[in-house]
Amino acid sequence: MAKTRTQFMCLECGTAHERHMGRCPDCGTFNSLKEHRLAPQPSQPRTIRQSSPPVAVPIEQVDASEGDRIVTGLSEVDRVLGGGLVPGCGLLISGEPGIGKSTLLLQIAQTVSRQGKRFLYVTGEESAAQVRLRSDRIGAAGSELWLHSGCDLGSIEELIDQNQPVVVGIDSIQTICWDQIPAGAGGVTQVREVASRLLAMARNVGFPILMVGHVTKDGTVAGPRTLEHMVDAVLQFEGERGHSLRILRALKNRFGSTEEVGIFEMCADGLKEVDNPSGLLLSSRHGSSPGSATAAILEGTRPLLVEIQALVTPAAHGAPARKPSGIDAGRLSMLAAVLEKRLGIPLGDCDIHANVVGGVKLKGTAADLALAAAILSSFHDRSLPKDVIFAGEVGLLGEVRPVPGTRQRLEEASRLGFHSACVAPGSIDGSGPEGMRIHEIEELQTLAARFIQ
Ligand code: TYD
Ligand code: MG
Repeated sequence: MAKTRTQFMCLECGTAHERHMGRCPDCGTFNSLKEHRLAPQPSQPRTIRQSSPPVAVPIEQVDASEGDRIVTGLSEVDRVLGGGLVPGCGLLISGEPGIGKSTLLLQIAQTVSRQGKRFLYVTGEESAAQVRLRSDRIGAAGSELWLHSGCDLGSIEELIDQNQPVVVGIDSIQTICWDQIPAGAGGVTQVREVASRLLAMARNVGFPILMVGHVTKDGTVAGPRTLEHMVDAVLQFEGERGHSLRILRALKNRFGSTEEVGIFEMCADGLKEVDNPSGLLLSSRHGSSPGSATAAILEGTRPLLVEIQALVTPAAHGAPARKPSGIDAGRLSMLAAVLEKRLGIPLGDCDIHANVVGGVKLKGTAADLALAAAILSSFHDRSLPKDVIFAGEVGLLGEVRPVPGTRQRLEEASRLGFHSACVAPGSIDGSGPEGMRIHEIEELQTLAARFIQ
């Protein structure tokens, strides 16, 4: 017989603890734990078979087939997933509010349903009518797209039992509530319990489940963070509000690489897959103005050209300001310090604003050389040649180092009409792409001498 369980729930952060404590170890609030008796409950979701005796088998006898993948039909999503959804898998689509997660899930639901596969779309945030209106606006749904507007986990489990969907989408996991847990929807305990029951059901019945989860910029309102280890894949949807570019990145993927990214543009009628992201990003380039340099970066395995802008002005108030956007603040300070020390330019008396155009966030160090070139260009008020791209890491001594995938970066640049490239010595074997002039830059002094002075 199932036993009655007792938990101590923090009224402040919603976390459940096994024993009583004077202070909640999760949020640090004093005297916030309150005792709750949980109703007796079956220990497993209803669709799970009672556990069988433990077995171990030799590795070669283990069935390693993933089953037939379910292609979503959105090629950028399939690329990130490594070829489609694996039956029984659990997937988290995370991102900041307003970035486009619901739109992405709905578009996946549309393309899956158009293949005649039933997609159960559970919306806990919007009414079914709102979802229908959005769906009509952004594309065509197949007749197998089924909507349920509600937040109750029991009803969702029943609906899945009845309707036997091929794929299930939940928008969002924070809104779904299991009445066996006293804490309100969105609390860490609720989110974890609800997700674990849905994931167990998905695994046993064999349907893939896509769960949307909101994450704030610093990741603190953290339902989804606690889910990351429970699911098979975490797809993070990134972008800047006010910019249309969106990047879907696999932070974790048990069924494929985490190197692939999907690139979309948010348009008035939904998300469009972007074949030529560099073209989109450079479309408004001001290459001939001082302070602009083009960096060749890699997003996953895809080369991407982005415009980096810097504005260097005399410091307005005492301490110099460093204002990066899309660039790591530490990296900007470091480059300014290296430029000051190695080239003797007085950046310590200057404010520096630096920006990546188009809402891309730079990761890694491959754009160092472009950023240094943009800062130099703005400081001296001299434009860089418009058809040159930069790819290289800058060290503390002002030396320029090769970055991985340089040839791919140069080929992308050549495709987009760039005729010269600045890279570290030894970055590529042999010559560069046809018609492209390669400048080998050993250190920042060489860069300044060749392009600025
Ligand atoms: P949404 O998918 O609701 O974001 P999330 O679920 O991550 O909170 O989309 C939010 C924004 O996207 C909204 O501000 C409007 C914009 N948007 C478009 O620009 N075009 C569209 O076709 C749709 C559906 C949304
Ligand atoms: Mg939403």
